[in-house]
Amino acid sequence: MASIRQTSPMNDEAPRPRGNDRSVAIAADESLEIAELVQELITSRRNVSPKRLVAPGPDADQLERIFCAAAAAPDHGEITPWRFVIVPAEARARLAEVFALALIDRDASATPEQIGEARRKAYRAPLLMLAVARLGAADPDIPAAERLLSLGCAVQNMQLTAHSMGLGCGLTGGQALTSPRMRDLFALADGELPVCCINIGTVVNNRSGRVRPPPQMFVSSL
Ligand SMILES: Cc1cc2nc3c(=O)[nH]c(=O)nc-3n(C[C@H](O)[C@H](O)[C@H](O)COP(=O)(O)O)c2cc1C
Repeated sequence: MASIRQTSPMNDEAPRPRGNDRSVAIAADESLEIAELVQELITSRRNVSPKRLVAPGPDADQLERIFCAAAAAPDHGEITPWRFVIVPAEARARLAEVFALALIDRDASATPEQIGEARRKAYRAPLLMLAVARLGAADPDIPAAERLLSLGCAVQNMQLTAHSMGLGCGLTGGQALTSPRMRDLFALADGELPVCCINIGTVVNNRSGRVRPPPQMFVSSL
């Protein structure tokens, strides 16, 4: 397997560093193998439903690395236009209550089964966190589309890092996210938008993934 090695930034004879902060150099004869590895990592990632994510979730060191991967997302203006809020086990009941009440708010005729199902969603996946886009006032005032794209990159970096560790990851959205009850629970500020939940854990019985679209479906030339 190709290796990535650390070099001293002061060592002129070392291969040219590719990283800005950590001086990481990749020997030329290994770069193809690394490119293949990265391609394989990216294309083999599959969304995993939270129903199929069980303990153990990431440990403290893995979680730190997952968040460091988020921090590597492109960030125009360096405003960190996103944040993540972990929902630990002791807070899941409060999230379950919000999921249930948000359902009742929008559908007064929801059945007890449907309400129970809404509640259960809060207890799936050993690691559950809310991804929040920060779209309010900032200096510089980067457009919302760029901030959301930055969040998407951060989330994908997290998903790929979890995948590289052998963990599964799934994104969940849904109408509950837009409920004022969610805003209250997560103490969201003006301009903050809850975008999705990120679920991470150990995969059991994942279904086979979708067929990805071929590039000619989404690439054209002017
Ligand atoms: C912001 C966001 C929220 C999502 N929410 C859900 C969801 O609630 N339920 C779901 O089945 N898929 C959801 N998805 C889609 C899956 O994450 C996944 O991308 C899709 O099923 C395609 O599978 P793949 O990622 O393995 O290619 C969401 C995707 C995004 C980007």
